[in-house]
Amino acid sequence: MAGGAPLPREAAVAVIGAGAMGAGIAQVAAQAGHRVLLFDARTGAADDAARKLAATFESLASKGRMTVDEARAAASRIEPVHTPAACVSARLVVEAIVEDPEVKRGLFDDLERVVAADAILASNTSSLSITALAAGMKHPGRVAGLHFFNPAPLMPLVEIVRGLATDPAVADTLFATAAAWGKTPVHATSTPGFIVNRCARPFYAEALRLAAERAADCATIDAVMREAGGFRMGPFELMDLIGHDVNFAVTKSVWEAMFHDPRYAPSPIQRELVAAGFLGRKSGRGFYEHGAAASAPSPQALPGSPAPSRIAVHGEPGLLKPLVDRIAASGIAVRRLPAHPGFPDGAIDAGSAWLALTDGRTATARAAATGAPNVVLVDLALDYAAAKRLAIAAADHCDASALGAAAGVLQQAGAAVSRMDDAAGLAVMRTVAMLVNEASDAAMQGIATPADLDLAMQKGVNYPRGPLAWGDAIGPARVAGVLANLAAHYGEDRYRISPRLARAAQAGGRLGA
Ligand code: NAI
Repeated sequence: MAGGAPLPREAAVAVIGAGAMGAGIAQVAAQAGHRVLLFDARTGAADDAARKLAATFESLASKGRMTVDEARAAASRIEPVHTPAACVSARLVVEAIVEDPEVKRGLFDDLERVVAADAILASNTSSLSITALAAGMKHPGRVAGLHFFNPAPLMPLVEIVRGLATDPAVADTLFATAAAWGKTPVHATSTPGFIVNRCARPFYAEALRLAAERAADCATIDAVMREAGGFRMGPFELMDLIGHDVNFAVTKSVWEAMFHDPRYAPSPIQRELVAAGFLGRKSGRGFYEHGAAASAPSPQALPGSPAPSRIAVHGEPGLLKPLVDRIAASGIAVRRLPAHPGFPDGAIDAGSAWLALTDGRTATARAAATGAPNVVLVDLALDYAAAKRLAIAAADHCDASALGAAAGVLQQAGAAVSRMDDAAGLAVMRTVAMLVNEASDAAMQGIATPADLDLAMQKGVNYPRGPLAWGDAIGPARVAGVLANLAAHYGEDRYRISPRLARAAQAGGRLGA
C-alpha cells in the first residue's frame, strides 16, 4: 500500500514487556538495525531476555543465518532498561505486556509523559480495542496496533490496526516499518479479533461442533482437514498446541465483543476442557494425550473394498473433475451420461451407489429428496488430484455393498477413505464455507481489503489458500448454497449468509481481489 516511509534505522525502538512476544519483537527490531530499549516490570526479566537473545543471535550465526559480526552487532543493539522513563529517546514504543486494558492504558499514559510528542505508541494486543486504548490520551492519533504472531521472529504477518482516532500517517509508517523489518504487514481496523483472530474462528468452531455431534473422532477430523483440506494442522491438534485456555479466551472475547452473535458462540466442550485443566500440550492432555508415553493418534479409515470396473458420471462433475480424472487414471472405465434429475450438480454412479459432492445437506436428506437410498457424499478437498484422504458420509438406509462400491472407487484412485457420521456439510466443506463467509463479512465491513484478508490468513495462520480466493475457486453460489442448507438443517442464525457473499452468488461476482 502507498504511504509512509519506514522508521529510519537510526531511530530507537522501545519494547515494553520482555515475555514471549516482547522478546521476539525486540529480536526482529534489533536484527533490522534499530537500537532497542527493552523494559519489563519484573526485575531481571529484561536482562534475562537480552541474554537469551544474544544466545539466539549466536545460534543463528552458527547456522549461517547471519554472520558472527552481525550477531554481535544485533546483540549489542538490545539495551535492557529499568524504568519506562529510560525510553525517552524512542521514536516507536511497542508494548507487549499483560493483556489487561487498564494496565496497558496506564502504561501509555506514563509513556506519553516521557517520549517525544510525535513518537508512535503501538500495542501488540491480540484482542483489545485500539480505539479504547487510545481514548483519553493527549495524542490518541499516535496510538495503533502492531500485532505480531507467535513466534514473532518466524511468523511473517503483522496486522497494523487503526483505531478510530489513529492518524493514517502513523499506520502507514508502521506498515512501511514492518515491511522494512522483513515482515508481511496488512492494514486492519480495530474490531474484535482484528483480521486473523476473527476470520479463523470457524476453523475451530465447526470442528468443535462436529465433535459435539460425534460426527467422527478428533484424529479422523484432523487427518481429513490436513490431507483433504490442505491445512497444515488439524483443528484439534492446533487447539491443543495453542492451549485451550488461550483459544477459549479468544473465542469468548470475540463472541462477547460481538454482543453474543451466535456465529461466534464458544463451545461447551472447550469450556469443559478448560475447567478440567486439560489445556493441551502444555498440561499433557487436551483432546489428545501428550505425555512421553502417549501414542500418536490414529485416524480411522475404511478397510479396502473392491471397486466396480466401470462408473458413469452424470452431468458436469464440476469441482469433482480432477477426482474423476484420477479415478479414470486408476483403471476404472468412466462413461459420461446426461445429468440425473436428482443430482443436477453432477454425480458419479458407482454401480450401486450415487457418489456426489456434499452441498451442506446430509446424505440422508439427499436420499430422501432423490428417492435413491444409496447416496454417499464426499467432502470438499483443496486439490482432488492430490488429496491423500477423503471423507465420506452415507445415507442412513444406504446398503453396505453400495457404500463399499463408493469407497472402493475412491480407494482405487489412491485416497484413504474416512467415513464420518452423516453430518451436514461434512468437515472440510462446512469449515471452508464458514471461513469464506466470515472473510466475506469482514471484507464487506471494511476490516481490511480482500487482498489483505487473504494474505493475512495465509501468512498469519498458514491457510493453504486465502478464504476469499478459495470461495472463488469453489464458486460463491456453491458456498452460499452450502450455508443455506446448513442454516436450514440447524435452524440457527449462525449459518446466515454474508450479504457480500449472497451478492456475489446472485450476480456471478468474485469475492477475492
Ligand atoms: P508474557 O506473559 O510472555 O509476557 C508479558 C511480559 O510483560 C512479562 O514479562 C511481564 O513481566 C511483563 N509485564 C506485565 N505487566 C507489565 C507492565 N505493566 N510493564 C512492563 N512489563 C509488564 O505474554 P506474551 O505472550 O508475550 O503476550 C504479551 C502481549 O502480546 C499480550 O498483549 C498478548 O495479547 C499479545 N500477544 C500474544 C501472543 C501470543 O501468542 N502469546 C500473540 C500475539 C499477541
